[in-house]
Amino acid sequence: MPITVVHTKADLRSEVARLIREHAGRRGSAPSLGLVPTMGALHSGHRRLAEAAVAANDVVVASIFVNPLQFGDPKDLERYPRTLEADAALLESVGVDLAFAPSVEEMYPGGDPLVRVTAGPLAGKWEGASRPGHFDGVLTVVSKLFHLAMPGPAAGQPTAFRAYFGQKDAQQLAIVRRMVKDLDFPVEVVGVPIVRAEDGLALSSRNQFLSAEQREAALVLSRALRLVDERATAHEPLEPDDAVDLIKSQPGVELDYFEVVDPDTLEPLAFNCRETPFTGEALAIVAARVGDVRLIDSMPLKAR
Ligand code: PAJ
Repeated sequence: MPITVVHTKADLRSEVARLIREHAGRRGSAPSLGLVPTMGALHSGHRRLAEAAVAANDVVVASIFVNPLQFGDPKDLERYPRTLEADAALLESVGVDLAFAPSVEEMYPGGDPLVRVTAGPLAGKWEGASRPGHFDGVLTVVSKLFHLAMPGPAAGQPTAFRAYFGQKDAQQLAIVRRMVKDLDFPVEVVGVPIVRAEDGLALSSRNQFLSAEQREAALVLSRALRLVDERATAHEPLEPDDAVDLIKSQPGVELDYFEVVDPDTLEPLAFNCRETPFTGEALAIVAARVGDVRLIDSMPLKAR
């Protein structure tokens, strides 16, 4: 089926209602609805999210919106790639039904919103520490997208409303899950594993700003994550300091943080990972600057 691309909230609502009704008419039962929020410049990481949504839901909507509220640096916002045509083609090839690509004026008609969703203490650390206001901007737009994509009563309720987020942005995923829980959004949040390039680098729309040499240097991040993952698998103490030393020894890479944390609270698991053989579950997170590109990566850890 060809994808429909809409640019206004009104068209999004009416198209979602049409798709839900059409589906219910064909099947005689209420369909499920999947939402894939993105900022466009789509790559295989986004594709995996869309594929997961299409596999599990009857109707799938993707949003493409470079959200100014979550950018601290105006230069970063300005240079963010915008590739709507290619994005729509990728979404269509996967089987997404509808793409919502609003303008900034359409999303925030009165200018920057006065009332926002605040992420609280979870946003004070890691990514949030160097990007003040970033997660409030993410939660504000994500909650708007949840409301906008949720069909109104005229269309009939879907059996499930699922939203797809990548584990690549591990803190974002944890904070969105927490918002849904704390504010009772009727949404099931689905986390999708990181997609990597063959050399191990986590796919990101920022990778295109790396020179060949910088890209080579950036591989130290996934290497450091694999180091602690191998120890987790072997029930050994994780010794994150070794991973930190590995990254610090790489010229051209400026480490911001490398930590092993609880996947829900994002608090460091110092005791579990340094002084005892590792048991249970954790998340290793890393952020670094390579040239003027900030890269993040993460890996779920499990003692097997
Ligand atoms: P964006 O950076 O476009 O990412 C959209 C989704 O794709 C996020 O959930 C992100 O975690 C996921 N993703 C990106 N690279 C990935 C990879 N290599 N493997 C798996 N998933 C990957 O994240 C945002 O946009 C925005 O903050 C948004 C949630 C849309 C709110 O504006």
